[in-house]
Amino acid sequence: MTDVTRKDFDEVMIPCYNPMAVIPVRGQGARVWDQQDNEYIDFAGGIAVSCLGHCHPIMVEALSEQANKLWHLSNVMTNEPALRLGKKLVQLSFADKVFFANSGAEANEAALKLARRYAADEFGSQKSKIIAFNQGFHGRTFFTVTVGGQAAYSDGFGPKPGDIEHIPYNDIEAFKAAISDETCAVMMEPLQGEGGIISPQPEFAQTVRELCDKHNALLIFDEVQTGNGRTGDFYAYQGLGVTPDILSTAKSLGGGFPIGAMLTTDKLAQHFKVGTHGSTYGGNPLACAVAEAVVNHISQPEVLQGVKDREAIFRAELERINAKYPMFAEFRGKGLLLGAELNDNWKGRARDVLVAAGEEGLLVLVAGANVVRFTPSLVITTEEITQGLKRFEAAVAKLYNA
Ligand SMILES: Cc1ncc(COP(=O)(O)O)c(C=O)c1O
Repeated sequence: MTDVTRKDFDEVMIPCYNPMAVIPVRGQGARVWDQQDNEYIDFAGGIAVSCLGHCHPIMVEALSEQANKLWHLSNVMTNEPALRLGKKLVQLSFADKVFFANSGAEANEAALKLARRYAADEFGSQKSKIIAFNQGFHGRTFFTVTVGGQAAYSDGFGPKPGDIEHIPYNDIEAFKAAISDETCAVMMEPLQGEGGIISPQPEFAQTVRELCDKHNALLIFDEVQTGNGRTGDFYAYQGLGVTPDILSTAKSLGGGFPIGAMLTTDKLAQHFKVGTHGSTYGGNPLACAVAEAVVNHISQPEVLQGVKDREAIFRAELERINAKYPMFAEFRGKGLLLGAELNDNWKGRARDVLVAAGEEGLLVLVAGANVVRFTPSLVITTEEITQGLKRFEAAVAKLYNA
C-alpha cells in the first residue's frame, strides 16, 4: 500500500530539490517501476551512478554477503574489502595510493586539501592558487563548490575559500595567462559533465599537463562522472593520454552504493600524515565490497568495449531521430556520457524534453538548459536501448508537432 506521495516531499523535505512527480519503487536492469507500477526505461542511471543497472546480481550478492559478515569498523581498523578495492584501483591506474571517502565532493575535498598541503610543505604558503574552469562542477562542500565554475552555487554563504581562479575550458591562451609559479593545482573534469557535456581538446589537455609540470602545479582530474568505464576507458584520462597527479572518483564506483575515492602517487600521498585528513565512513566494508564487485566487472576489456559499441548505437539512432525531427544541433560526449544539444529553435527547452520523455516512460537527464543528457547503465541491453530511443522519438515527435 502506498502511504507516502510526492506531496510529502514538499511537506517534510528541505526544498533544495524539485524531484519528478513519479516515485520509483523498484528497478531491474535498465528499468524502474513507480508506485502505480508504470514502467520506465532508465537512461539517467541515477546521474551516471547505476553503471550495472538496478539490482545487478553481482552487486546484490556482494552486498548480501558482506551484510552478513561485517558492516562497519571506522578508520581505527582497516578491513579486507577496502584493502582489496584499494589494490585493484592502484592496479588499474597511475596511482600508488588511495584514500576512501563517501561521495564525489568528499573525494574532491581530499584532493584539494592534499594539493594545498603538498604545495605548502614543499614550496611555501605563497603557492596556493587553484585554477579551475567555468561551468565545472566538483561537488557541494564549500571548498569544492567554490572551485566549481558556477558562482551562483557558492554565493550567499559568507566568505569563500580564497585563491581560486576560473577560466574558460579549452582556452589555451587563458590558461597560459593564468598559470604561474604560485599555482598550487589545476582542477578539471576530463570531460565536463554538469557543464553541458564538453570534451577537452587534446592540445588543451596536453598544454595543461605541460604547464603544470613547468610550474610545479598539480593536475587534479575530477573523474567523479567520467570514471569507472563511463567513457569506454576505465578512467577518461587513459583515453585522453594525459595523466593527472591526483584523481577523484565516485558515482559509478559503487554502482549505487555511496563511495568515493582519491587516487594519487606515493610522492604526494606522504603529505597526508596520521590525522591530517580522515572520515568515519570512508572505506566502509559494505561500500568497498560492492565497489570491488563493480570494479572487477566494469574493468574487463569486453565490458569497456561494450560501452563504445553502445555509444555507436545511441549516436546512429539519435542522428536518425534528428533527421526526422530536427531539434538538436549536435550530439556529443564519449562512451555513455552523451549530450544532445538543442538547436536555436529549441534553445533553453531541455527540461521540456525531459518531462516529455518521462511521459513516454523514459528517464533522461539535462546538463544545463540546452542539453539533454544520457548516462545509462554501461551494460544496458541493445533491446533496452532500442526501446528507450523509441520512447525518446515519441517524446521528441510530440514536442515537435505540438
Ligand atoms: C564531475 C563531478 N564532480 C563531483 C560531483 C559531486 O559528487 P557528489 O554529488 O557525489 O558529491 C559530481 C556530481 O554530479 C560531478 O559530476
